[in-house]
Amino acid sequence: KEEEFEKSFKEMISSLPKSKGWRYSQNLLQYQGFWLHPSHLKGVVSAQQRFQAQPSDIMLCNLPKTGTTWLKSLIFSIITRASFDDSTTPLLSKTPHEVVPFMELDHAHFSTHRDLGLPVLATHVPYSSLPKSILDSGCKIVYICRDPKDSFVSLYYFNVTIQTSQNTRAQPLHINEAFELFCQGASIYGPYWDHVLGYWEASLENPVKILFLQYEDMVDDTVLHVNKLAEFVGHPFSSEEQQQGEPEKIVKMCSFQNLSSLEVNKSEKVVKGEIQNKMYFRKGKVGDWKNHLTPEMAARLDQITLHKLSGSSLQV
Ligand code: A3P
Repeated sequence: KEEEFEKSFKEMISSLPKSKGWRYSQNLLQYQGFWLHPSHLKGVVSAQQRFQAQPSDIMLCNLPKTGTTWLKSLIFSIITRASFDDSTTPLLSKTPHEVVPFMELDHAHFSTHRDLGLPVLATHVPYSSLPKSILDSGCKIVYICRDPKDSFVSLYYFNVTIQTSQNTRAQPLHINEAFELFCQGASIYGPYWDHVLGYWEASLENPVKILFLQYEDMVDDTVLHVNKLAEFVGHPFSSEEQQQGEPEKIVKMCSFQNLSSLEVNKSEKVVKGEIQNKMYFRKGKVGDWKNHLTPEMAARLDQITLHKLSGSSLQV
């Protein structure tokens, strides 16, 4: 069976459209309308064929660099708060990515032996390409999006940092070239706007099952959103917990400032692929794009966003 999968997978990828990628020697492949790294594609296809979601699962969905690490740590803290407090939480010694794995990277190949531990998984797969069992099971989905200007800047420097850490002589892609690719939709799991719109429309159709969040709103009032998240995933805070400041404690634990100061998150250890733990934490600010994009670049991206989202009620 595994051999059959390998064979049909090889045939399938040889026919996919290619684009220049953001790191040297790494092209992007277009699968079901979205651009993926070849290293992720196998997990995506495998998950589509084999992943068995359960109604009690919680899926955290988003584009890379829009708040995955933060959302993972918040949801993990919310649903494990009866077992741990801020002096015993596994987040003190593990990265958020170790406590909440990715469906397509960590889990897809083992999905026949389903053992998630906690029923929470993250994925960057677009809504239209999610494994059918996720939609059929009616499990809960939390989606987070972020201003595309900040997402672009975050993604660009993430790639530069990875490439620089690899001691290759190849120059990182110039920001103008990456920007051009981003605007054309050729960014990981992009086009950016199609990804966001897919989940946005699904959340309007099914607000009980899909919670749509924005990074900037969460920064603005994190306590409010932690309450919202807890309620949505079926672990609301009791009035006693409210009085004891439990939501505030979780916000503090998962803040950029706190997480990024923990040894585990400052480490150069590589848990996944080529990414060092510390690379998930850069600035964690809203509006850092102002320090990296020219006014012309910002205006162009805003124009594309306005145009792409014009038929929807969404503003990012
Ligand atoms: P910047 O590069 O703008 O700093 P992801 O987790 O999806 O990979 O996204 C990474 C982005 O989220 C980075 O943005 C990172 O600094 C920021 N981030 C990481 N942890 C965070 C936290 N606890 N709170 C807010 N932002 C966080």
